[in-house]
Amino acid sequence: MKKTRVAVVGVGVMGHYHANIYASLPQTKLVAIVDPRLERRIELETAYNINSYQNHHDLLKNENIEAVSLATPTSLHFEIAKDILLAGKHLLIEKPIASTVAQARELINISNEKDLILQVGHITRFYKAIRLLKEKINKPYLIEARRLSPNGRIVDVGVILDLMIHDIDIIMGLVDSEISELNVSGQFLKDTDLEDVATAHIEFENGCIANLLASRAASDVQRELDIFEKDQTLHLNFSQAPYTELIIQRPITDNFGEIHLQTDSRKILEENPLKEEISHFLGRIRDNTEPIGTTDDDLRSLELARRMIDMLKQKQNKKDIIKK
Ligand SMILES: NC(=O)c1ccc[n+]([C@@H]2O[C@H](COP(=O)([O-])OP(=O)(O)OC[C@H]3O[C@@H](n4cnc5c(N)ncnc54)[C@H](O)[C@@H]3O)[C@@H](O)[C@H]2O)c1
Repeated sequence: MKKTRVAVVGVGVMGHYHANIYASLPQTKLVAIVDPRLERRIELETAYNINSYQNHHDLLKNENIEAVSLATPTSLHFEIAKDILLAGKHLLIEKPIASTVAQARELINISNEKDLILQVGHITRFYKAIRLLKEKINKPYLIEARRLSPNGRIVDVGVILDLMIHDIDIIMGLVDSEISELNVSGQFLKDTDLEDVATAHIEFENGCIANLLASRAASDVQRELDIFEKDQTLHLNFSQAPYTELIIQRPITDNFGEIHLQTDSRKILEENPLKEEISHFLGRIRDNTEPIGTTDDDLRSLELARRMIDMLKQKQNKKDIIKK
């Protein structure tokens, strides 16, 4: 089997996972990694017996590769991704695609012009539970998503682009309707203009309401999604890796007219969603398989996230003016 030659640019937490998977897949050859941190380069060069580079320019000049995973901090996605696409390489870019909608559009245009695969690492699209959910739900009237974490590791974007974007992407994939109203609130707990806590209230034209809460200043991890429909309630808990808990409850009326709650509770084994995501990327390159999530979907999620951030900034500016 001809192997797809790949490299990973940015080998921190996520990039290391990408590199590990490429090194283990039969259809790929991990050729090189890029990271400005010398210690990290030495560590991974030795672990995988590959080349390493301090920057992506040297990688593109020196290596014969077909595809790249990009997992640098989000604020660097655009400049590096643009160079990689212009060099004619297929690209799997960690979420979110870029910091701004204009940047995302430019990357998508380049990939279209050059006929390259550009896939964004919206990993929840590869959760078995999320795919099952799409089969189970019909017309939700209320969705609530909570994604809380004590981890403030990401410092170049706020919690909306860091964590809430996952739930934005899930909800926008479930509700087939335009947004009619949006309200956002947030808390800036450190001395930066990046929100650490955000809540959003979305009303859709079809009547569905969605409430989202994301925090990276919580004391514990919570990742939950509740979906309410007239005849059933679905509850998902993602914080018990490698399982996702899915509970579906339906009120059933018995022969005596009494209402009982029928509960279907399952623990779904999510073997390795990132491996699914990467295998899908390779399938698109090698076998032209249909995308799970398009660049329009990526853009739609980023557009909503940016709209929320802009609304928060405006609110914050008003508060600052009042304080003065
Ligand atoms: N899909 C997910 O669930 C998920 C989870 C966490 C992070 N992410 C995304 O992954 C990306 C990386 O996040 P992370 O948590 O791995 O961050 P990280 O800080 O652990 O890793 C970033 C790496 O990029 C390197 N880097 C910095 N500048 C570089 C450059 N110019 N060229 C090459 N490498 C460079 C850093 O040295 C570091 O090793 C972000 O976009 C983030 O949003 C996705």
